[in-house]
Amino acid sequence: MKQLVLGGLLVLVLWSGWPDSAVAVDQAQLQSINQSWSQSAHALANVNCSSCHQNNSAKQVIQQPTHESCRSCHEAQVDTFLLGKHGIRLLEGQPALTPALAHLPMQAAAHDKQMNCNACHDVHSVKTLPASVDSCLTCHQDTHSLNYKNSRHAQLLREEGALPRPSTASTTCATCHLPRQTSASGTVMVNHKNTYTLLPRDRMVKEVCMNCHGMEFAYNSIFDDDLVESNFARPPTLSMDTLKMVRALEKQRSGNSTSE
Ligand code: HEC
Ligand code: HEC
Ligand code: HEC
Ligand code: HEC
Ligand code: HEC
Ligand code: HEC
Repeated sequence: MKQLVLGGLLVLVLWSGWPDSAVAVDQAQLQSINQSWSQSAHALANVNCSSCHQNNSAKQVIQQPTHESCRSCHEAQVDTFLLGKHGIRLLEGQPALTPALAHLPMQAAAHDKQMNCNACHDVHSVKTLPASVDSCLTCHQDTHSLNYKNSRHAQLLREEGALPRPSTASTTCATCHLPRQTSASGTVMVNHKNTYTLLPRDRMVKEVCMNCHGMEFAYNSIFDDDLVESNFARPPTLSMDTLKMVRALEKQRSGNSTSE
């Protein structure tokens, strides 16, 4: 099976040839890519090398596919990604976002790391668990992000062990910033617009926290700047006026705060 697939790509490569500019792709690199792919959800679903590396109309090999190669099967994920701060530069035809362009503190080693699907997923293994926390921390280095590991949320995730995907009982960076949403037909989709739950701030209360916490607990947590900075590493001490919370929630429900 592995041999077949690898052979299949090599045939594809020999037949059409990598583009002239191609950096030599050695056998060892192909082996390791094939290894990651063969254990992936894609391999199980018969999504193979040519699904992403072959241009259907021109029958050419695409050596470095972009997010556009994902669109035929994951349109909603591609579209939401392009609308958030992570993806908007690509939507506008600019070079990808990199930590070098950020105001927020970032890992020096990731200075030139380009933001695309591969930045979080590893397009060949397409695992979602490492995408949910570890991938974020390869770039983000602000206090809030670094403090996540000290939170109850992180502890509960660690106790879950290595599931293929974070369960609905755990709270990762992605639970809050790339929330799962259920469509009318019941399919769950990860909203990849990474700035969606940030503005207004209490959008996160309804979209995320209230799946697990009461309204009062959630409001008192999210409007406490120190608690946000600590990444919710203690119970809330703030006590907001309940009526104010109800009004804020009502305003959000009736769609008055449509800024995204
Ligand atoms: C889900 C889509 C997808 C599948 C399936 C896939 N690839 Fe890729 N592949 C990509 C993307 C996207 C990139 C570019 C990653 C990046 O941004 O660096 C890539 C990069 C590569 C590269 C590196 C090219 C370079 O110049 O560095 C090789 C080699 C490669 N893929 C081989 C394979 C092989 C072999 C298979 C099948 C076993 C495979 N790919 C399956 C999407 C895919
Ligand atoms: C030919 C269709 C097809 C293409 C092209 C494709 N995928 Fe997929 N993808 C699937 C299918 C089918 C699944 C498995 C069922 C599901 O979870 O929806 C899947 C699952 C996934 C998952 C979830 C894996 C998991 O463990 O739950 C991720 C992440 C993913 N794809 C990312 C990508 C990325 C990134 C690209 C482009 C580089 C891409 N896919 C291109 C069909 C495709
Ligand atoms: C900022 C990191 C990040 C980037 C960039 C990213 N993803 Fe994801 N993606 C995730 C995480 C994390 C999950 C799983 C979240 C969860 O299950 O709670 C996920 C889940 C998915 C899934 C599983 C199906 C679903 O929606 O439930 C697909 C498919 C997917 N991503 C495709 C893509 C594609 C295509 C791109 C590029 C356009 C992309 N992702 C870019 C982090 C990212
Ligand atoms: C390739 C590096 C990289 C990865 C991986 C990455 N990010 Fe980002 N992210 C950035 C950069 C760069 C910005 C822009 C920061 C700025 O403008 O100061 C950003 C912006 C953000 C913002 C918006 C901040 C704001 O105030 O507008 C959030 C939220 C965010 N990322 C969360 C995440 C999460 C959650 C993950 C993992 C699921 C993740 N990021 C993965 C580089 C990355
Ligand atoms: C329980 C929910 C939750 C979790 C988990 C979480 N965040 Fe946040 N994050 C927030 C809230 C709330 C804000 C503040 C929004 C605001 O200031 O309006 C925020 C802000 C941010 C910002 C913007 C920081 C700034 O100074 O503007 C980034 C970047 C970010 N988070 C990344 C991450 C990363 C990376 C992780 C995981 C390591 C993570 N977050 C985990 C809720 C969460
Ligand atoms: C998937 C469920 C889930 C989601 C979503 C979630 N939490 Fe939690 N949270 C928990 C659990 C479980 C605990 C641990 C409760 C306990 O120990 O009794 C917890 C604990 C906390 C704590 C207390 C930490 C401590 O050390 O005692 C705070 C504060 C908190 N969450 C805030 C939030 C906020 C704010 C949001 C939304 C931005 C949120 N949570 C989203 C499940 C969740």
